[in-house]
Amino acid sequence: MRQILFCIVLICSCIQFTPSKKGNNVIEKTLYGKLPDGRAVYQYTLMNKSGTTMKVINFGAIVTSLAVPDRNGKYDDVVTGYDSLQGYMDGSSYFGAIVGRYGNRIGKGQFALEGKKYQVTVNDGENHLHGGKIGFNKELWTANTVQGSAGQSLQLTYISKDGEEGYPGKVTLSVTYTLTDKNELRIVYKGTTDKTTILNPTHHSYFNLSGSFNNTILDHLLTIEADSITQVDKGLITTGKYLDVTNTPMDFRTQIAIGARINDKFEQLIFGKGYDHNWAIRNYLKGKVRKAAELYEPKSGRVMTVYTDQPGLQFYSGNFLDGTAKGKGGSYQHRTGLCLEAQCFPDSPNKPEFPTVTLKPGETYEQTTIYQFSTK
Ligand code: GLA
Repeated sequence: MRQILFCIVLICSCIQFTPSKKGNNVIEKTLYGKLPDGRAVYQYTLMNKSGTTMKVINFGAIVTSLAVPDRNGKYDDVVTGYDSLQGYMDGSSYFGAIVGRYGNRIGKGQFALEGKKYQVTVNDGENHLHGGKIGFNKELWTANTVQGSAGQSLQLTYISKDGEEGYPGKVTLSVTYTLTDKNELRIVYKGTTDKTTILNPTHHSYFNLSGSFNNTILDHLLTIEADSITQVDKGLITTGKYLDVTNTPMDFRTQIAIGARINDKFEQLIFGKGYDHNWAIRNYLKGKVRKAAELYEPKSGRVMTVYTDQPGLQFYSGNFLDGTAKGKGGSYQHRTGLCLEAQCFPDSPNKPEFPTVTLKPGETYEQTTIYQFSTK
């Protein structure tokens, strides 16, 4: 009798304490690698109740994999990635990372704040791109698990020194990743500074919903909730003008295949070598999250809906992928992944007509962006 009771107690305690395969929103931590200076990089695995899994490393706050179901319940990884820390250290494609201090381009890397001129690193032709030579994507972040209503979240914090890459002020940025039971990846950013500066971080995952990175993203159908883009010059610096998308290949107001017009002889597409532009998402109101885009891959049935409170969405069709970047999906060929990056408009520090990216001491930068996965 005693033995039977003991067995029952043992079974019950196992049920209670062993994290189920279909996660309990419990985060597991494993050693991922070591930086040349010996600092350890950890990988955190988040799994929700329906079995969707996401892996994140505290180097660059990078999402290294995200496995979501297709319409038959088959899970596949939908983000590009390298297979080791070295790949992320050497890579130049910003796979899965949080990009900052300024996501996107600043003309000639120059801007002025409160009458003072600043020069940040020039690393994209004559312009500044994605935070400079060593942006937030190449830095080690501090990771903590935090308990929220949707289960555990992973909070990553990076403290960027005053003067880093030429930016003024010490900035503290925290990014919280939550994988909800509704198959949403929620990203909440909060940033502060000790001197007036600029802050415009974004998330740079490359998605391919087909289930294989051997397929291009040209058959994915896309909708973007925008009537205009911010027009760019040939260096992809915004001119300050909004370009109406009507009767242009930039019109994604009704669902259309990405490949349908990508090679049109349209000046903006020629400048971008494909899509690499910022769409001015309708109904911008500071702090208000609204639908920005929907991506649908008809064969797998996977849908990704993007919600954000940001003014703009950079849709980049993987034009610079050329097979050089090698990772878990083999070598990533031209246009086998696409980015939908929520952010403020490019070169906004030099465009007073655009929403501001200036952050002052005492203020808090905030962003909420959600990538929601479903099927149809
Ligand atoms: C962004 C830019 C692109 C390119 C990629 C990274 O999305 O807009 O031009 O630099 O990042 O390769």
